[in-house]
Amino acid sequence: MNPLTDFAALPADAHKGEWLNWSKMADFENQSPPVIVTGEGVYAIESNGNRLLDGVSGLFTTQIGYSHGAEIGKAAAAQLETLSFYPNWAATHPSALALTDRILGLAPDRMARVLLTSGGSESVESALKLVRQHFLAQGHGLKRKIIARRGAYHGCTMGALSLTGIPLSRVPFEPLDPNVRHVVNTHQRSCLFCHDKGGCTLTCADAIEQAILAEGPDTVAAVVVEPIQNGGGLPPADGYGAKVREICDRYGVLLWCDEVITGFGRVGGWFASDRLGFNADICTFAKGITSGYAPGGGVIFTEAVGAPLINAEAMYAHGFTFGGHPLTCAVALTNLDIMERLGVIENVLANEDYYAAAMADVAASSELVVEARGKGFYHSLELTDNALTAPVAGATRKRGVIVRPDVRVKPMIVTAMPLISERSHIDELADALKAALVDVKG
Ligand SMILES: Cc1ncc(COP(=O)(O)O)c(C=O)c1O
Repeated sequence: MNPLTDFAALPADAHKGEWLNWSKMADFENQSPPVIVTGEGVYAIESNGNRLLDGVSGLFTTQIGYSHGAEIGKAAAAQLETLSFYPNWAATHPSALALTDRILGLAPDRMARVLLTSGGSESVESALKLVRQHFLAQGHGLKRKIIARRGAYHGCTMGALSLTGIPLSRVPFEPLDPNVRHVVNTHQRSCLFCHDKGGCTLTCADAIEQAILAEGPDTVAAVVVEPIQNGGGLPPADGYGAKVREICDRYGVLLWCDEVITGFGRVGGWFASDRLGFNADICTFAKGITSGYAPGGGVIFTEAVGAPLINAEAMYAHGFTFGGHPLTCAVALTNLDIMERLGVIENVLANEDYYAAAMADVAASSELVVEARGKGFYHSLELTDNALTAPVAGATRKRGVIVRPDVRVKPMIVTAMPLISERSHIDELADALKAALVDVKG
């Protein structure tokens, strides 16, 4: 059976066998989840023919939209015909070498090394262990604590979950790695320290310094931040990145930016940490590297991070069978070709203000919205109540647009348009959101 052509011949309850990711399975005991069968440009198309504007880029991933399967598929087929697989364990292959070179060409100048993985959590897990071994190899075995931030999402494997600062995600699996401390995030509007000071005083960055001092700098290995925190849609104030960098330098602590969402163009630069002034030692990435045409991810880091491990005694004891898979590398290389050819970074820079203004306009149109915030092609609405998020997202979908309801940190509607979106698509998103807010308000 060919599922692409014979989908209708599958048993009606075929969906009951598939346990979905991050889903309430009870919702699908008696009905199928949406079945997405194809895509075109910035639209995802359901089995019933519904065409939905994908306002979340298939979970912050589909930077180039859905129409490049033929070109990417050709590169993938050529790769598989030449070399289907060989593990990147004490060996490599031409596509991994080419992708590494390409990534380092796009990454901040100080980056010198790339470890390839198959996704975001794997990348975070890899960086977590890299940080620990970096200090262990220098005889600083005590330096292994990580300062992370409340509200952050870093993935769902046990190490990545330990960094995650969302109680709802953590609690079922505690106790987690005890070497993590969480500090305040960059919530400018409801910041306890600055809400009455007429602007951000970067006390949120001072909180990182205080945590390092409280733990003892000799025990702290790294600070990890999402350049723009997802769950709350929280871009930092100007100067936050540079201040965190200064603090890390002062105490010999590595600065790690988790760019699984913000990497590869989302915020109008190849890496948001660069654009926001973090000047990181380590970046984790995934999603946009392949635009979702294959699973992929990785860790980039400076020579100084890797150097202690380039020592006959000190192997980095970590790796995945499929890290640097030839298929992923071929897909990623073609995706990067397409991103450059289409000028997606330029498109984000040319239209980010338009996107921000459209979302501000949506916010102003409804008393159900507290605020719109974001940067690049990554914008969220904070609503007044958690209970509104699912109805608003549902009503927006009924009007033909996918957005993401998120109650993990604040009552949010998150949007992240494909990086090829035009102003007409942004208008379509904003119109659907406005109408949905009216539908829900009744
Ligand atoms: C910042 C960040 N880190 C890590 C992850 C985990 O990535 P994955 O779902 O590919 O494991 C995510 C997922 O959204 C993320 O947003």
